[in-house]
This record gives sequence, structure tokens and C-alpha cells, in this order.
Amino acid sequence: MPPKPFVAPIVDSKSVFLPNIFKGKVLFCTGGGSGICKAMTESVMRHGANAVIVGRKLDRLTESAKELSEATGQTCIPAQADVRQPQQIKDAVAKTIATFGRIDFVICGAAGNFLASIDGMSENAFKTVMEIDTLGTFNTVKATLHHVRATQGAYIHVSATLHYKGTPYQVHVSAAKAGVDALSAVLAVEEGPRGVRSNVIAPGPIGETEGISRLKNHAEESKRGYPLGRIGNLKDVANATVFLFSDAASYVSGQVLAVEGGCEHMRSFQLPYPQAVLDPESVKHMIKPRL
Ligand code: COA
Repeated sequence: MPPKPFVAPIVDSKSVFLPNIFKGKVLFCTGGGSGICKAMTESVMRHGANAVIVGRKLDRLTESAKELSEATGQTCIPAQADVRQPQQIKDAVAKTIATFGRIDFVICGAAGNFLASIDGMSENAFKTVMEIDTLGTFNTVKATLHHVRATQGAYIHVSATLHYKGTPYQVHVSAAKAGVDALSAVLAVEEGPRGVRSNVIAPGPIGETEGISRLKNHAEESKRGYPLGRIGNLKDVANATVFLFSDAASYVSGQVLAVEGGCEHMRSFQLPYPQAVLDPESVKHMIKPRL
């Protein structure tokens, strides 16, 4: 019998990091009303921070803020703003300062996505995603920087792995996230001397997100070989968030941390995977012997 493939455990950050490492800290998170950014916010709050979640839909934000407060015992408030509108983000920052008096951590996570080819999308469609993802990140950095300098805090920008290769139907997101990665590197270099760090988290395929439900066929996904035996979980991204905001990452800045379980290194392979690794004998007959 070939050995069973390994399946990476799904770990709660509280089993690794102390529960109070972010006590007294304040997180400002765009896109925090749902999905990956909501899970990131929850993880930071579970370690003692209060948070402000920012987005366009006030109903969803209000509901999520309530859920996050109840789940963590910390305080989360909603701030309605479109990251494309600099004044709206400035107002959300003002609300944060009026409520909590400081900003230690910023997650730039607001993003837009849909599936469309270059030929099949309008100029305005491309511009819209560039404006939400790239300009929105710049607007958020501009509005928060003064406060993050004051606390010698840190930024995490939520990017993607799509743009490491040519991903069809994702030209808008690929271009926008490449810009986000570049922006973070400059921020790290310019603000490092003031004690501010900036890093990127690039989630790979993460289950139970809007993106994966639209971008992936679940049936096909389950058949594909993952180096660590499973698709990503929201907790995987949340744990990386806790690490990067923690003092354990005090010398980590300007980096892109891809949370993708090794998937990016997989090429299409003629032998069955992971069978060829776990049970080499079983695939020997598929390899021509040397003459
Ligand atoms: N295919 C092609 N073009 C699309 C599209 C799709 N599926 N969805 C939107 N567009 C185009 C629109 O047609 C419009 O272009 P046009 O003016 O030339 O017709 C342009 O994108 C802007 O769309 P609109 O819906 O007016 O902008 P918006 O600012 O209200 O919302 C999004 C933009 C990206 C947020 C919106 O498309 C959306 O809700 N997407 C799904 C949710 C989402 O992205 N969540 C984040 C997951 S990471």
C-alpha cells in the first residue's frame, strides 16, 4: 500500500502565539466586511486588538462588525467608504482616531474581481479594478500613514499569485496586484527609517472565498494534487497576518508572503501526482527505460 498523502493541519493562531500580543493595538482594514480580510481582522482581534472595517456596503459592514466583536470580545466598528474616494477614506480614518485614538496596523484588502478576457472587457472594466486595488491601496496608505508612523506600526497588502504567470481572464487583477506588490516595496523602503514595516500577503487558492467560488471548479479542484494535501483555508491567511503584524516579524519588511501551500511551484506533470512521489514503484512502468 502506498503511504497516504500528508494533509497540512489547519491551525488556530492562538495555539502558536500568545493571546494578548496585540492588546491596546488598533487595526484599520479595508475590505474587512467579508471573506479573507474579515478572517484576517478576526485573527488580529483574537490577539487583543480593536478594529475598524471599511467597505462600501454599510449593512454588511455593520453585521460583520457585530459578529467580529461578539466572536473576539474586542470592539470592531464599521466605517463606510469607497477606497477609490480619497476623502471617504480620510473620513474613515478620522472616525477611527475619534473612536480609538490610534492606528497600529493597516490591511489594504479592498479588491474587485470578475472573470473576463482582454477582448471581452471594456476599458472601464479594467480601469475599475485598477482603481479599486491599486489606487485604493495608495489612497489607504496616504490616509493612514501619518498615524501609522506615530505608532511605528505595519501594513499588510492583500495581493494574489495570479500575476506570477499569465492567468487568462485576469488581466485587470494581474496588473493591479503587480502594482500593489511594487507599492508595498517602496513603502517598506521609504518608511523603514521611521519604524514602519510593509509586507504583502499573496493568498493562493483559498477555499470558501468569493474568488475561488467564481474562479475554480470545485469538482476539478478536489482531483488536483496539492503539495500539502489540501486547498488553502482562511485560517492559513489569518495566521500569516498574525505573524507579520507580530514582533516576531520585526525584521521582515518589503516581502511578499505567498500563502499557497507550494502550489505555485507545481508544473503540469506527465506522471500522476502525488502518487509518483509517494509510491515511485507504481509509476516505474510509465517511464521508458534507458537504452
Ligand atoms: N465582465 C466584464 N465586465 C464587467 C464585469 C464582468 N463580469 N463586471 C463588471 N464589469 C465592468 C462593467 O461592465 C463596467 O464597465 P462598463 O462601464 O464599460 O460597462 C465596469 O466593469 C465597472 O463595473 P460596475 O459594476 O459599474 O463598477 P462597480 O464599481 O460598482 O463595481 C466591481 C466593480 C469589480 C466591484 C464589481 O464588478 C463587482 O461587484 N464584482 C464582484 C464582487 C467582487 O469583486 N468582490 C471582490 C472579490 S476579490
